[in-house]
Amino acid sequence: MSGCIFILNGPNLNLLGQREPAIYGHETLTDVERACAAVAGQAGAEVRLFQSNHEGEIVEQIHLAREQAAGIVINPAAFTHTSVAILDALNAYDGPVIEVHISNVHKRESFRHHSYVSLRADAVIAGCGVQGYELAVARLLRLID
Ligand code: DQA
Repeated sequence: MSGCIFILNGPNLNLLGQREPAIYGHETLTDVERACAAVAGQAGAEVRLFQSNHEGEIVEQIHLAREQAAGIVINPAAFTHTSVAILDALNAYDGPVIEVHISNVHKRESFRHHSYVSLRADAVIAGCGVQGYELAVARLLRLID
């Protein structure tokens, strides 16, 4: 396993920065990648950010992580609340997994309160805005040290 951290993002997060900015803010996924790369770089690690609107593509990235990632940060977006397939894929991954939500899902609609991914995640960060990704990378670096 290399020092690479996978940062996986689910549907509609390609629109981050434009989509519902009152909830998700003005920063883009490119900003997230840059900030996370800086945090990882201080520890000599690398990040690889991936986003897809397709559940199967996220499952396949998690399979790839089995060979290539020392840890996974995942914001499954709406798939958080629906996807047994992503949970099963994460259960087949041995490294640490941190679930991130930009918004505080617990302050929002009740259908956002349940997460399949939380059944596997080693930690969950919600409501810290996009800074949650940086916090997750910092925590993963500690876990894989
Ligand atoms: C989200 C919260 C989810 O409920 C929602 O479907 C998203 C983004 C977040 O980052 O706050 O798309 O995961």
